[in-house]
Amino acid sequence: MISLDDYLSPMTFQSPAKLGESGWLGHIPFAFWLVERAAPRVLVELGTHTGVSYLAFCQGVQACRLDTRCHAVDTWQGDVHAGFYGDDIYNALVELHRPYAGFSRLLRGTFDQALDGFADGSIDLLHIDGRHDYDSVKHDFETWLPKLSARGVVLFHDTHVQERGFGVHRLWAELTEHYPEAFAFDHSNGLGVLGVGSALPEPVRRFFAIGREPEGAKRIADTYGSLGGSLERRVAAETELQRLRSSSSWRLTRPLRGLADSLRRS
Ligand SMILES: C[S@@+](CC[C@H](N)C(=O)[O-])C[C@H]1O[C@@H](n2cnc3c(N)ncnc32)[C@H](O)[C@@H]1O
Repeated sequence: MISLDDYLSPMTFQSPAKLGESGWLGHIPFAFWLVERAAPRVLVELGTHTGVSYLAFCQGVQACRLDTRCHAVDTWQGDVHAGFYGDDIYNALVELHRPYAGFSRLLRGTFDQALDGFADGSIDLLHIDGRHDYDSVKHDFETWLPKLSARGVVLFHDTHVQERGFGVHRLWAELTEHYPEAFAFDHSNGLGVLGVGSALPEPVRRFFAIGREPEGAKRIADTYGSLGGSLERRVAAETELQRLRSSSSWRLTRPLRGLADSLRRS
């Protein structure tokens, strides 16, 4: 018997504090749920960029009043897939990150350089979202795997992308041969959720169990696909509104401005 409580909670429906263009946007509702239900003691993200995923994890930790220590690792220089960028991205993130500085830190450097800062068996939740070619994501998984605890869960973004040299889907297919506790969302480029620990938190274990049943998998995928889609549409509408506002034709559409603003607020 599948209950809504197995994959949803009031946290799922929290409004994200940071919304911005990112292929990760649509996974924020699940991030809130996972942080609440897994209650990780240590959370590490490999690949943070503007912070859409990481700030959602931090928001979840703060809203649930958890004792989680959070760590974001990135060079904040970009890569071939995300594109290369300047210090303005890191500086903006430092400001957005201030409310979470009591339990979270931004580690500027490579993933390999950060490894020594974490004891083996210490990380409960690891999010891998760096370079997406097969060799890189495999390297990131294999080098960080010893750091995972018995409660360990690993998230992989872009499991559903099969172009531009992305190879996460290939690694995901291999890993799910060996790890039975696994679930993959297809929306927002795909998010793989992999249980690697031998003593997963009970709500997470239950999530994987219902995800193995066709009806459960469909309910989870439909619910989070729809919640994620509505966040993506909201950001797309806000981006379009910004674009319109800065265009010269905006002056000609003055009567429509009030209508657009009230639509945005609704
Ligand atoms: C796809 S972006 C992360 C997106 C982010 N999670 C979000 O929510 O939008 C990938 C990031 O990983 C970083 N990166 C890639 N490989 C890295 C490595 N080996 N060490 C440190 N940072 C790396 C890049 O600088 C880039 O900012």
